[in-house]
Amino acid sequence: MPQDVLQDILVRRGFLCPSYEVYGGVSGFYDYAPLGGMLKRNIENLWRRFFVVEEGFFEVDTPTIAPEQVFVASGHVENFADPVVSCRKCGTTYRADHFLQEKLGAENLSPEPEVLQRLIEERGVRCNCGGELGEVRRSSLMFSTTIGAGGRRGYLRPETAQGMFVMFPRLYSFYRKKLPFGVVQIGRAYRNEISPRQGLLRLREFTQAEAEIFVDPEEKRVHPGFGRYAGERLRLVPRSGEVLELSAKEAVERGILPHEFLAYYMAHTRRFLMEVGIPGERIRFRQHLKDEMAHYAEDCWDAEVLTKRYGWVEVVGIADRTDYDLRAHESLSGVEMRAFRQFREAVTKRVMRLVPNMQVLGPEFRGLAPRIAEAVEKLPEEAAEEFERTGRVEVDVEGEKVVLGERHLRVERVELRQTGEKFTPHVIEPSFGIDRILYAVLECALAEREGKRVLRLRPQVAPVKAAVFPLVSREELEEVALEVFREIKSQGMPAVYDASDSIGRRYARVDEIGVPFAVTVDFESLENGTVTLRHRDTAEQVRVGAKEVPGLIRRLCEGMSWDELREKLAAAP
Ligand code: ATP
Ligand code: GLY
Repeated sequence: MPQDVLQDILVRRGFLCPSYEVYGGVSGFYDYAPLGGMLKRNIENLWRRFFVVEEGFFEVDTPTIAPEQVFVASGHVENFADPVVSCRKCGTTYRADHFLQEKLGAENLSPEPEVLQRLIEERGVRCNCGGELGEVRRSSLMFSTTIGAGGRRGYLRPETAQGMFVMFPRLYSFYRKKLPFGVVQIGRAYRNEISPRQGLLRLREFTQAEAEIFVDPEEKRVHPGFGRYAGERLRLVPRSGEVLELSAKEAVERGILPHEFLAYYMAHTRRFLMEVGIPGERIRFRQHLKDEMAHYAEDCWDAEVLTKRYGWVEVVGIADRTDYDLRAHESLSGVEMRAFRQFREAVTKRVMRLVPNMQVLGPEFRGLAPRIAEAVEKLPEEAAEEFERTGRVEVDVEGEKVVLGERHLRVERVELRQTGEKFTPHVIEPSFGIDRILYAVLECALAEREGKRVLRLRPQVAPVKAAVFPLVSREELEEVALEVFREIKSQGMPAVYDASDSIGRRYARVDEIGVPFAVTVDFESLENGTVTLRHRDTAEQVRVGAKEVPGLIRRLCEGMSWDELREKLAAAP
């Protein structure tokens, strides 16, 4: 089937369209038209079932604009950039690694500007117009903005994650100071992609569904629910490039995956992707190369889906972000982002601490002295060690830095009984791109039967669950059909009603937009109260009671298979 068929159906039948079309469109932006909007919502809701309901991770919703400090701390201001190169003749700007991949037929090139520059020179790569290419440089991917009339600099978030990291102290209390815990967010993210030409795969505004799982680094090796996925087969492409088919347990035991936490969420991701309609054999996990990895990650595996149009496409990134983000925000904000770990048995430790000399602080700092003393008492042991080495220490009091010396403080060594210690949690993050998943779902669903297109969306995600037709447009048939239609909707399922055209055309119309079940009211319905229920994927029909049909469709949409329904009907008296 030609590739443009999918695009044609999606635009013509109301799934998608380029944004701002009447003004000529802007690349990197797409509108979800009515059916696309509903499909997207259903995929998101299925994701919620996997992460919010099953995993017990609560959902938050944070702003899409953040002040500059957030992305200074997170490292995005400094590091979140792609390599670009412009043609000296026609001025076209390309994302350098992607352009070279296309030109040289290479895969997964390093994004380092020096590496790419060398390749351009060594291989004599030129622009498509034949012109000479300039220097490879880095271009920030973040959209900047100003907040308020004062012009405070802000950015549109390039990932939903940071809103959850900066909320850590509140989340930690909410989860009653017990690790591990997770929190999720589904929302828009923005990246000023350099040349977005792949439809939904590379957007400038897209939707992420992210889970941040905060865990004690000493407990990362063992996931409490790992048994569920220990035997799950994963297709893995580690950095070495070999392709391995291993169970999650074997992958951890052989050291291919660093710990059970990462393995668990890879298996969970695979199950989710299959549940939305991507066949397991089209899913693999590829480990990031060292120089491909985001600045915050220690290890990262992409869930990739094999598409007909674009080959292997990353749809989810699953990263071990370590304590990078919490440490960074603690350091810039000055707010503690730590958890407490209880020891099995209390220990007695000799520690150093700083003791304020009030006889000097009092006359010198007057009213501020008690607050300086309080700040000194809160300093960690490292500050006392530092003071012993340098003879000075700095404290923050009401936003002012106060430098204290040997006349203000002395070091004291004391024995402390400790029941536990503070530490910075690590974060495991599965980051799902909903738009890419939606594209993959649609591509996998598109099929052909007898020269007609059928969109085999799984009932769980299909935007419209049922179609109701009177066989012909006669009042007595329409009356029954409208009653069935109303009852299906009252059970919470979007449905369509259509009384025009031949029945064959009506089936074809709803097959093309992926409606999984169709109910037809015919003359037999008037005699015995039954209707036909048609299954989109096989075009089979069964006769069931008009009163039962809404409940049966609901069960089919909740996971009962068509075969199970047929068995149930065959067994009925
Ligand atoms: P790529 O290498 O393709 O640019 P990435 O590695 O930068 O992607 P991540 O930063 O890991 O992507 O983002 C997490 C997920 O968000 C991705 O797996 C993808 O599904 C989605 N995503 C990222 N960038 C885009 C985009 N420009 N358009 C649509 N989805 C995106
Ligand atoms: N939160 C992962 C990413 O967007 O890069």
